[in-house]
Amino acid sequence: MTIRITWARMLAVIAAATLLALAIGWSGAVNVAASSGHWKVTDWFLHWVMRNSVKTRSYWQAPEQPSDASGLVSAAGHFAASCAVCHGAPGLRPSPVLRAATPPAPDLSVNARQWQDRHLYWILEHGVKFSGMPAWPAEGREDEIRRMVALVRRLPGMSPAEFRRLTGGVAEIAGSNRFETCAGCHGLDGRGRDQRDIPVLGGQKPVYLLASLKAYQSGARQSAVMRNAVARLGDADMRLLATRFSAMPGLGGASRAADAAAERIVRQGLPSRDLPACASCHAPGKPYPVLDGQKAAYVAARLRQWRGDPHEVDARKSHATMPVIARRIPEEMIDRLATYYAKAASPRK
Ligand code: HEC
Ligand code: HEC
Ligand code: HEC
Repeated sequence: MTIRITWARMLAVIAAATLLALAIGWSGAVNVAASSGHWKVTDWFLHWVMRNSVKTRSYWQAPEQPSDASGLVSAAGHFAASCAVCHGAPGLRPSPVLRAATPPAPDLSVNARQWQDRHLYWILEHGVKFSGMPAWPAEGREDEIRRMVALVRRLPGMSPAEFRRLTGGVAEIAGSNRFETCAGCHGLDGRGRDQRDIPVLGGQKPVYLLASLKAYQSGARQSAVMRNAVARLGDADMRLLATRFSAMPGLGGASRAADAAAERIVRQGLPSRDLPACASCHAPGKPYPVLDGQKAAYVAARLRQWRGDPHEVDARKSHATMPVIARRIPEEMIDRLATYYAKAASPRK
């Protein structure tokens, strides 16, 4: 006997299968217990799907340069503070509570070897559904993700001592005095531990530091690293920390780099482009942040972010000034202005 396949029969089979699936879901027979783990075949299937998804999507959803090893301190500090609970880190065991998840987070000192940089970038930016692996909690901060890719790449083979050196000891003191936690990245002297991406805080205006902390906390100024660092601080804590860092020596000073074109923009602006003189606002006695002695890479990155290159990450309505100004600076002057200000640094003691 042969069964003829007709449209009506096919539809009936699909309807029956749908009803069966609903009945199984309704009955409670599916075990969602994390305690029971996955069957080997389910585990294999889910990871097969995940690996294929990551590999395919990262082709067009990861940038050409997915990794940046120029600043591992902020990545390591962020890893210790927000990834190690699940993944562990060199010298740090993961939380036993989170080890009891299904799937448990893999040991990256082993698993990182299985992925290329652009795969890691994609996973860090987007997270992994149904697994508890979170997405990057800040918009437009490809720079932060790139630094984290570089760190994860180095986890295999990284010694506990090396990890501790990078985090400035945050690992041991997390949960103790909050200033010490900040100092893991910013240094006990507020100079940012020679890292290009970590600004000098000493000598900065305390009101400006406080406004920055609040903007990170609310998400108005996007940064996963800083948002996580201030997540649990109250207003009084933030005020104390801003005052403490700003009282340290650091920014300020008068001797600047010899660059006539940069100096002209700072003192006179560019009337042809409606660009006001930087010094009309950024000058002693005015309520604007101090730029003299700030790190060149940080100043340049801030200006590019305001230009929307690649993204605007600080678009507070009440601070609409700098995006307009940054867009009027000729592109070739961004790095020169940044260097001009950086050279004003008072000599390091
Ligand atoms: C709540 C727990 C949790 C946190 C917090 C977490 N992860 Fe994960 N992560 C996971 C889980 C679970 C997986 C495994 C996904 C899977 O099985 O496919 C994973 C996978 C990964 C992978 C891919 C490795 C692989 O082979 O699956 C990388 C890389 C990674 N995480 C890095 C990070 C970084 C960096 C952070 C911090 C910014 C972080 N994770 C925070 C739970 C977490
Ligand atoms: C894991 C590393 C890390 C930790 C911990 C950390 N910071 Fe930061 N901080 C950074 C980085 C990186 C930036 C630059 C962020 C950006 O690009 O917006 C920054 C920026 C800042 C700024 C903005 C300065 C400016 O010129 O606008 C302030 C203020 C600040 N941090 C204060 C703190 C305080 C207070 C703490 C402790 C509660 C802290 N940070 C903890 C890495 C860290
Ligand atoms: C009209 C006043 C004004 C002028 C002119 C001005 N700025 Fe600003 N600038 C500000 C304000 C206000 C902030 C703080 C922005 C914020 O908190 O979001 C700022 C912040 C900055 C920062 C970030 C500092 C930090 O620590 O994160 C940089 C870099 C900067 N300005 C560079 C410049 C340069 C370069 C020029 C000249 C081309 C310039 N500014 C001209 C008002 C001005």
